[in-house]
Amino acid sequence: MAESKQPDRMEKVVSLCKRRGFVFPSSEIYGGINGFWDYGPLGAELKRNVKELWWSEMTRLRDDVAGLEATIIMHPQIWKASGHVDTFSDPMIDCKTCKGRFRADQTGEIPCPQRPSKMVTECAGEKTQPRPFNLMFKTHCGPVESEDNVCYLRPETAQAIFAQFKNVLETSRQKVPFGIAQVGKAFRNEVTPRNFTFRSREFEQMELEYFIKPDEAVEAISGSVAEATGEGHPGEPQPSWGWQLWHKYWVEERLRFYEGIGLPRTSLEEYWQKPEELAHYARATVDILFKFPFGTQELEGIAARSDFDLSQHERHAGKPMGVFDDDLRAAWTRLPKETQDALWKRYHDARHKYLIKSGVDAESAAATARNDADNLAKGKYIPHVIEPSAGVDRLILALITHAFSEVTETDDKGKSETRVILRFHPRVAPIKVAVLPLLKNKPELVAKARGVFELLRGQVNTYYDDSGSIGRRYARQDEAGTPFCVTVDFETLGEKPELLDTVTIRHRDDARQERLPITGLAAWLLERVR
Ligand code: GLY
Repeated sequence: MAESKQPDRMEKVVSLCKRRGFVFPSSEIYGGINGFWDYGPLGAELKRNVKELWWSEMTRLRDDVAGLEATIIMHPQIWKASGHVDTFSDPMIDCKTCKGRFRADQTGEIPCPQRPSKMVTECAGEKTQPRPFNLMFKTHCGPVESEDNVCYLRPETAQAIFAQFKNVLETSRQKVPFGIAQVGKAFRNEVTPRNFTFRSREFEQMELEYFIKPDEAVEAISGSVAEATGEGHPGEPQPSWGWQLWHKYWVEERLRFYEGIGLPRTSLEEYWQKPEELAHYARATVDILFKFPFGTQELEGIAARSDFDLSQHERHAGKPMGVFDDDLRAAWTRLPKETQDALWKRYHDARHKYLIKSGVDAESAAATARNDADNLAKGKYIPHVIEPSAGVDRLILALITHAFSEVTETDDKGKSETRVILRFHPRVAPIKVAVLPLLKNKPELVAKARGVFELLRGQVNTYYDDSGSIGRRYARQDEAGTPFCVTVDFETLGEKPELLDTVTIRHRDDARQERLPITGLAAWLLERVR
């Protein structure tokens, strides 16, 4: 894909992040630790806003999604069942000269040890053959470091959702189709962390597992599985949707989410993975890519994972993961015999294929597949799943790079100054409003401004600033991405009686100003920042 890289822009973003307290290198006073980043005061607010918006849209504003917050360390068998113990690895090579270790597919450039955001050419020494390197961080539970108590820091939040599927189903009173959402830390021991926070070893995910009926059940209930017609959002979910329409629905929902927080479609691309690129569990995966200054890279993957995960946990844990579906049971008895037989066979063949691929012996696979297909006829199946899986940290980086803009202004004396404005969407902006008394040395102005600040701070994240010229203070807020500044001036105090208890609102993006009564301020802001 042709793309223009903008290393200068990336350098400026990294420097701004440090200077304004969005992102700091972890453990910086000890020289940092490669692949780990901390969020400073502004970054922490930005990240919190993004996660809360995702959580709200995915769970609270939907009837069909419930939340989960699981532990980071889980039973190690989970990672055997998921395939991570056996297959979650990158090909790695070692350099015999400099002793560096690199991903075999990323030789040529490595992050600069002094400035990890910058890529430098690596040593030309002789390399070993590539060998797999498991990306999971290993540790031990309890005081003894033995193979028996190895456990892992989770490499994705998804597996906890599968492991708790039955508990959530039973306690949330949901019925398939429904989803389980989780936001949380995940860890991958990346061979070469790179591109600032984009590929880190500790990061956060926002994952939804949306459980759906297998297509055979949909066809039994609705007569046929609806086909996707046309481009774009397929609209309100319908009982006749199979996995392909649900997959398309979630791709469009996720694009809509990004637009709603300030990343327009023109900044994003959809990439349909080719069959040879698909993960072992996936039937189809769409990556939502963002045009970063260092290239167009993945923000989120939306995978159709079939019934692979729940099936794996059913086999490995020996606990049933199937659900009873009254609609299917009732519909099945009304189907003509030849339809029953055709659906039975299709379901049987899919289950058989999965079992053989998962290493089950031929005899057991044949018996289990028959049993599974018989169960379908009684209204029981293992749900399939669509997984929209987003990386929080890369989204934060996308929001900052997209918001980053520079303006050059020339003053009355002809002196030019270039300054930064972060044009965040008000919904994600770390500070929503700054309250500024026009002058610091006028106690009445300061008292009034403190009153406005107290009024607003309980409603939205509000910042108070009385130091420096008003122009400097506006510029400071522009650089932090604050969409609105409220200025308390002499008119607020009643210098013009008709303007008593009104304030000036200044808009970040066009410096426009308007006058509003203090009484209406909170409602005015809430309407714009939520
Ligand atoms: N759950 C998918 C991923 O972490 O990439």
